[in-house]
Amino acid sequence: MKFFIDTANLAEIQEAYDFGVLDGVTTNPSLMAKEGISGKNNVLKHYKAICDIVDGDVSAEVIATDYEGMIREGEELAELDEKIVVKIPMIRDGIKAIKYFSEKGIKTNCTLIFSAGQALLAAKAGATYVSPFIGRLDDTGYDGIDLIEQIRTIFDNYGFDTEILAASIRNPIHIIKCAEIGSDVMTGPLSAILALLKHPLTENGLKQFLADHAKANA
Ligand code: G3P
Repeated sequence: MKFFIDTANLAEIQEAYDFGVLDGVTTNPSLMAKEGISGKNNVLKHYKAICDIVDGDVSAEVIATDYEGMIREGEELAELDEKIVVKIPMIRDGIKAIKYFSEKGIKTNCTLIFSAGQALLAAKAGATYVSPFIGRLDDTGYDGIDLIEQIRTIFDNYGFDTEILAASIRNPIHIIKCAEIGSDVMTGPLSAILALLKHPLTENGLKQFLADHAKANA
């Protein structure tokens, strides 16, 4: 399973990259705003700076919600760097835009997926990735992991190349469940990735090893 980090914070992206398990980055307009990035030139410069840190795909979201606007913005984003994946919302014109980009060989990530039907539509239009938001589903009392399972079954039934990018990851259990089901990618905060490191038996075991070594070498 590929590990993407869901942030626009350059320091966190660098830290995750240096950690050695990072395969890409996802951003969204809220994450860009959180970093105080505004104005077209600054936004483009920031995406380029992210691309310069990592080796893998970098999702950059369009703001337009009409077909022509999404095409214009998406083409501009895609020109920035070959790592850019144009992130497009799950709306009617978004599906048309995904089809357009797919025919041009430009990678897309269909975002704000909350149902299997939406994922199926995006895959049929040729999306490179679909992003089901599992944490946000959990927040409303629906099981986000069930949705990943449903989409996996559908994509496998028909051999869709579209990759499942489990988004809105909140904790290490989400990551493990997604890996069990066979999600192709997960995107989450650095804290959830680093939480995978932790087990009390590992910490206690290492403490004991080091104490025994120190005793033997005193
Ligand atoms: O980037 C899309 C998604 O991962 C958002 O996550 O935590 O805002 O629900 P969250």
